[in-house]
Amino acid sequence: MRSVECIGKATVANFSCGFDILGFSVNDPGDLVKLTKTDDFNGVVIKSIIGTDQLSYDPQKNTAGFAVLKYFEMFGIKDMGIEIELTKNMPLGSGMGSSAASAAAAIIGINKLFMEKASEKQLLEIGLSCEKLACGSAHADNIAPSLFGGITLIRDTRTKDFVKIPVPKGLYCMIIHPNIIINTKDSREILPNTLQLKTAVKQWGNIAALTSALYQADFQLLKRSIEDFVIEPYRSKLIPYFDEMRQIAMDNDLFNLSISGSGPSVFSLSDSEEKLHTAGKKIHQFLFNKGISSNNYISSLNETGSEVVNCEV
Ligand code: HSE
Repeated sequence: MRSVECIGKATVANFSCGFDILGFSVNDPGDLVKLTKTDDFNGVVIKSIIGTDQLSYDPQKNTAGFAVLKYFEMFGIKDMGIEIELTKNMPLGSGMGSSAASAAAAIIGINKLFMEKASEKQLLEIGLSCEKLACGSAHADNIAPSLFGGITLIRDTRTKDFVKIPVPKGLYCMIIHPNIIINTKDSREILPNTLQLKTAVKQWGNIAALTSALYQADFQLLKRSIEDFVIEPYRSKLIPYFDEMRQIAMDNDLFNLSISGSGPSVFSLSDSEEKLHTAGKKIHQFLFNKGISSNNYISSLNETGSEVVNCEV
């Protein structure tokens, strides 16, 4: 096989009360990465980047390029050149796992080109190095769901011990991206290092109930469990009109509204795509009236992960 094209899925990390341990991928949006083997050895070359002028063409500084370099290092591949064409379909610093989506597409693509040599843990190991490159922290709650799809619970990042939780049928997600940038590194730095026991008790009650709700497809329990006592009080201050957006979501019977990843995007779930569209339009209009442009992405949860969409032999 000479070339592959892959879609890397956007993700909602933290899944409300699951900071750094629980995330899911969605069907829209996704980044497109094309990898082509070159006859001469000239290493990893990023040939084009469409959709942003903010990303580096240096593969050491770009998560798609870095993923291929790490793959080569892992398997001792030295006699091969790879050209990368990257199309970004989601904004940077958006809280939709943009850096992970590009990395995941490149990881799935390079693994396909090299006869799927890597195990899931090896794929995740490469993805975690890319996250560390992008934001200084090797958290797995974007890269794991982007690679493997569905809702992913990371029990332990060090040992890459993760569980894929079933996606309940009939669950839809809306991500709202207000057009401002929040860097993950910055929004991690504002978080406290300690928390009170009574806060922790409320939080782990929610995370356990949320996980249980997903296994049982119990949407009422899910709705009650989507509440974050630990991170949201700090990060919501960085997101203009967070409380007002949440109120619109609640008034329209959505399953609460929470921060997607490190923000500024927020997300809501519902068992009705129609309710998401109705509330989404109201939030979009509300933000517009306040002078903030925004984009809404409504889709079902993705179950397949980042995937090959085209191959050339
Ligand atoms: N869990 C990470 C964080 C996700 O919240 O910092 C970043 O997208």
